[in-house]
Amino acid sequence: MKKLSIYLFIITFLTTALAACSDSRIYKIGVSQCSQDDWRSKMNDEINREIMLHEDAEVEIHSADDSNPKQISDIRYFADNGFDIIIVSPNEAQALTPIIKEVYESGIPVIIFDRNIIGDSYTAHIGVDDKSIGREAAHYAFHILTEPPKVIEIYGLRGSTPAENRHNGFANELTAVGGKIIASEAGNWNKEEAIPIVDSLLKAHPEANLIYAHNDRMAIAASEITRRHGRNDIKIIGIDAAPEIGIKAVADSIIDATFLYPTEGHRLIQTALAILKGEPYQREVEIPASSAVDLSNADILLLQNETLTEETRKMKLLKEKIDDYWAKHSSQTSLFYASIAIIVLLFGVFFLVLRSFWQHRRHQMALMERNRLLEEQRDMQKSLNEKLQEATQSKLMFFTNVSHDLRTPLTLISEPVSQLADANNLTPQQHTLIKIADKNVKILRRLINQILDFRKYENGKLDLHLSEIDFGHAINEWMESFYAVARKRDIRLSLDTPAGAPVTGAFDAEKIERIFFNLISNAFKYTPDNGSIHVSYSVENERLTLKVADTGEGISERDLGNIFDRFYQADRIHPRGSGIGLSLVKAFVELHGGTISVKSALNEGSVFTVELPIRHISDTTVATEQNITPPRM
Ligand code: FRU
Repeated sequence: MKKLSIYLFIITFLTTALAACSDSRIYKIGVSQCSQDDWRSKMNDEINREIMLHEDAEVEIHSADDSNPKQISDIRYFADNGFDIIIVSPNEAQALTPIIKEVYESGIPVIIFDRNIIGDSYTAHIGVDDKSIGREAAHYAFHILTEPPKVIEIYGLRGSTPAENRHNGFANELTAVGGKIIASEAGNWNKEEAIPIVDSLLKAHPEANLIYAHNDRMAIAASEITRRHGRNDIKIIGIDAAPEIGIKAVADSIIDATFLYPTEGHRLIQTALAILKGEPYQREVEIPASSAVDLSNADILLLQNETLTEETRKMKLLKEKIDDYWAKHSSQTSLFYASIAIIVLLFGVFFLVLRSFWQHRRHQMALMERNRLLEEQRDMQKSLNEKLQEATQSKLMFFTNVSHDLRTPLTLISEPVSQLADANNLTPQQHTLIKIADKNVKILRRLINQILDFRKYENGKLDLHLSEIDFGHAINEWMESFYAVARKRDIRLSLDTPAGAPVTGAFDAEKIERIFFNLISNAFKYTPDNGSIHVSYSVENERLTLKVADTGEGISERDLGNIFDRFYQADRIHPRGSGIGLSLVKAFVELHGGTISVKSALNEGSVFTVELPIRHISDTTVATEQNITPPRM
């Protein structure tokens, strides 16, 4: 039973575990953007779009809002929170290099994108060929101007790698085509910071015919300022071409051109997953620059972007639905496994119930069989008892009849023998012989009377013939008959008589004598020569107590409870009596309303105690004749 319960538990556990294990591992990707603007929004959209295609990955994007300390804490957050890979666009190379190096060296893969760090403590680097963008921009400047370009440069952030490369590429190419950067100042990628710079540079360099801004936001700032200065002749070039800002600014003729700075968010996620899954990837990627966006293609690009935005919206919707279906599917799968587990358990429980039912049934059948056998045995015992009873009854009947038949001739023999014994004209030898005959006739008569009394007792016809007796006198007389034998066998026979008034009461004289004779004869029978027999009687609370104590062989504990049963022989191998003496004594005692008990120890002796109520003939309550019904066997 216990074993089966364990099996059941294991099966259920495995089934549930299987259900739980059906979910595979999810990769956590952290993206740390250095700032938040349209270009990065576009990139974040691409990242989120790509992640939708990977069920085994999730992404969390943080923006440092152009702050080095904020970006350092963002990176630390990813490292401390169990992210599997960190993708970083470092705000400034110098400031961010140490934390990136630390994280990379701690074993967390790092992908650097857009802006770079110092050194190569990273897993992969995905950058854009900013120098090439710079060169393209210089080329474009040369083409849209009729005169050699005199350029005001609005620099990105000093210390950020795209700004440096955009400057270098532009400056080299511009010089090559005969142009010149007449002023250059950092706008830190921001429109707000760029506005006062453009303003002051324009004032200082009115000869400028082109403003080259490192991104579109600063280019738009330049446009606002040139218009304010009434210098609509100055051409303005930006970089990024984020649809909502750069391309729109071109389409609205706010700036003249912008250069696409590829975002490629999808590529970041693909590379990250390749690294995490141990698949091949390119450690250094340089995305080539693309051509200029100007009035000739701005509208079409905006349209394309609109389509893309719409597609993205639909894709998101689709993804939500898929997620929804997936959630339903997962819950159904769990339900399915739970159902299997429940079914297994139910089967188990059913089996256990069935098994215990079978066991119970088998047990019951065994019990029934045992009962049947017992009943059979009981019936057999009953019929045996009945047969035994019948046999005993017919034997007793036989003995009674024989005893009856014997008593009459015995009485007829006894009387002449007794008279002869008293005759004084016999020779001594004749006298001795006739005495022996007389004695044995008496014994024989007593035995026959005993058998007949016993039958009466058996049949419930034992009568009590009460007469007022002086018990003290009677016992003295009875004792007389035994002193001679006691002397002969050197047995000390004594009688304790209570002091005070004589003890008289209504007793059946013959039966009370037989009680005494039986007890004392037994004492003589079992007491060895040189032993002692002590008789005593006392009266207390209207009860007469007679004790016969001997120093005989005693009665074993086993026999003690049965000695008053009829036919009981303590010594079955060498029986020394008929086995009815004590049972008759008990019957006589009870007939008088008394009790009999015995205390004995083997080889120490026995004490028989008879207690009889003392009543008197005058008592109206005392019947002169009583019957006693013997216990049935
Ligand atoms: C966005 C941005 C872009 C620029 C890039 C350079 O934060 O300023 O405008 O092209 O960063 O890293």
